[in-house]
Amino acid sequence: MEILTTTTALRERIRAQRAQGKRIAFVPTMGNLHAGHLQLVRQAQALADYVVVSIFVNPMQFGPNEDYASYPRTLDPDKAALQDAAADLLFVPDVQEIYGGSPGQVTRVEVPGFEGDLCGRSRPGFFTGIATVVTGLFNRVQPDIAVFGEKDYQQLVMIRRMVRDLCMPIEVHGAEIVREVDGLAMSSRNGYLTPAERATASRLYQVLNEVKTALERGASDLAALEQTALDSLSVAGFNPDYVSIRQRGDLRVPAPDATELIVLAAATLGTTRLIDNIVISVT
Ligand code: PAJ
Repeated sequence: MEILTTTTALRERIRAQRAQGKRIAFVPTMGNLHAGHLQLVRQAQALADYVVVSIFVNPMQFGPNEDYASYPRTLDPDKAALQDAAADLLFVPDVQEIYGGSPGQVTRVEVPGFEGDLCGRSRPGFFTGIATVVTGLFNRVQPDIAVFGEKDYQQLVMIRRMVRDLCMPIEVHGAEIVREVDGLAMSSRNGYLTPAERATASRLYQVLNEVKTALERGASDLAALEQTALDSLSVAGFNPDYVSIRQRGDLRVPAPDATELIVLAAATLGTTRLIDNIVISVT
């Protein structure tokens, strides 16, 4: 696996691959890789001939009181994991390479409707930070295919929308959530949990499953289901941010006849913010 840090070198390498007729797939990450990320790499390998992974902890998507400084940076084990997974190229730019000398002053990409909804409500600037960095990475890599995890479902829906609105010639694929044995969705932030918090954390997935079961059994008062789930999370020791039942494709509040749903939640345990979701089909 080749490791590159500059856009110039990256472009040269990718141009050479494309000249050989290879289809390029891209998996953007912030590193501290776990089995969830590696699943995206495997999916990318199944869809294309040459797989590019990026590791860049993007300052623009962290709020002033968030964990940018302490976000786990584990480049050596990440390189080893990608080497084992047989990724073809790892792109590891620094902040200067992505944003030049003025990170606060770059052109922004804002997808309407995301900043004020779900995770966007409590994390101002988060989705604009993601859309902006992903656009910059897409323009550098110019992939045919990009793979994103369903773990960050709102992010996936936003990227699909951005690609459509801006007519980017990229196929976006979603990959299923990879979970720990007790159901907790794998996340780089799980490492922040104390042992006691870690024991509680899987309750988030259980509560989402309780909502799913209720919906499948015909419950139709969505607001009541959401409130019950919020209460269950509080009782378990979380500080819940939201539990929301939405249409799966566009994350709108479900129309009365909607059958393809998703329940999404965000909740803080101690100082760690966890998110998760489950898709639900009702008949
Ligand atoms: P990061 O949190 O590192 O996640 C990188 C990719 O891995 C995302 O597409 C995310 O949804 C996926 N992922 C993380 N945990 C997963 C799990 N348990 N199962 C399946 N997929 C999982 O998301 C970001 O980075 C950033 O916002 C980024 C897109 C790189 C832009 O900075």
